[in-house]
Amino acid sequence: MRIIPVASGKGGVGKSLVAANLGVAFAQAGQRVVLADLDLGASNLHLVIGHRAPELGIGTFLNDIRSDFSRVIVDTDVPGMRFIPGDGEIPGTANLKVSQRNALVKNLLALQNSTDILILDLGAGTHQSILDFFLLSGQGIVVSAPAVTAILNGYVFLKNAVFRLMYSVFRKGTNAYAYLEAARADVTGKTRQYIPQMLREIQKIDPQSYERFRANQAHFHPRLIMNMLEDPKDADVALKIRRSCEEYLGVSIEHLGVIYRDGLQDTALAARLPIVIYKPQSLLSQAIYRIADKILQGPEEKLELGIAEINGSFQEAAMEAEIDFENKTEYVEELLHSGALTQGDLLETVKSQQLDISKLKRENNFLKLKLTQAMSQGFKP
Ligand SMILES: Nc1ncnc2c1ncn2[C@@H]1O[C@H](COP(=O)(O)OP(=O)(O)OP(=O)(O)O)[C@@H](O)[C@H]1O
Ligand SMILES: [Mg+2]
Repeated sequence: MRIIPVASGKGGVGKSLVAANLGVAFAQAGQRVVLADLDLGASNLHLVIGHRAPELGIGTFLNDIRSDFSRVIVDTDVPGMRFIPGDGEIPGTANLKVSQRNALVKNLLALQNSTDILILDLGAGTHQSILDFFLLSGQGIVVSAPAVTAILNGYVFLKNAVFRLMYSVFRKGTNAYAYLEAARADVTGKTRQYIPQMLREIQKIDPQSYERFRANQAHFHPRLIMNMLEDPKDADVALKIRRSCEEYLGVSIEHLGVIYRDGLQDTALAARLPIVIYKPQSLLSQAIYRIADKILQGPEEKLELGIAEINGSFQEAAMEAEIDFENKTEYVEELLHSGALTQGDLLETVKSQQLDISKLKRENNFLKLKLTQAMSQGFKP
């Protein structure tokens, strides 16, 4: 069973669109597909595939992890594609208890006898449970877009995924683990160099852990999709992100392809149909089919993390503070260096964000004024 987690770092860049439409494309190619909505707390994948509001979903299962998981797997109108709805009511994926995550992973992995491809639509953000779901495959997809914030968030996600992989591989009590913890605690950032440099250090002080990491790194080839392109010149940003990842994260990214912004998607959504069914000839659908083909033709790579290590890292996770590398800002320099971002891009973004802030301030002041007036006239808040 191929597992295809779809992540992004930033919300609203097209994860659910990609997950749902790839699912349909794979099913049309004869694969037995399960599409799972793991964006707990904000799940809306059912809308993209035009599924009625789900009665049961992952939330139902999480409330009683000993219950029968098959109850929450439903058929869809697409032959060969089944669906596991999320749950908008329960708190997000980030708040899963360790036991809940373990039970969920165990049941998802158990689908392998009846499933060729399992697609996981992950929530936005870089919380460690999202990273752990991402690391269920060596080839998870990161969706990004040409906007500066989408690029930054996509890169930060990948960087955190590499750190999470280190944490999963290095056992507690080893020199490598201690080194990583020291790097994390070092607010000056001196211990924490670029990942390839950190790995050279670790190779010296703990060759055994280093080899375990290398074995996994060799199968870690996350894939990038640049979505929402408006202009052909936006396409090469993906190659520049790839360069930053190679140089600063020691990870080789596969560029799966670009998807242009397509006005037909709005009508597909309104018709409650995935666009590959609504308009298979559209630009967007053609891009999805190309990407689906590329995935099906490529080899499948798995990390060498067994279920024991995955579970182990989940337990670890409960004790660890949040991985906080994302709060450090050197990743901006790493992207500037490859040209994935330019100073001009940053300047533009700062300017437009300042405009947004001043607009919000005005709106906020206006609402405050209205509130004060209403209260002085005797309305209770
Ligand atoms: N290439 C595209 N062309 C036109 N519209 C698009 C394209 N990609 C995504 N959209 C639209 O952009 C919006 C956000 O997409 P989507 O919901 O798939 O993003 P997401 O990353 O899953 O968001 P969230 O983080 O909120 O789950 C949706 O309305 C979707 O229809
Ligand atoms: Mg989504």
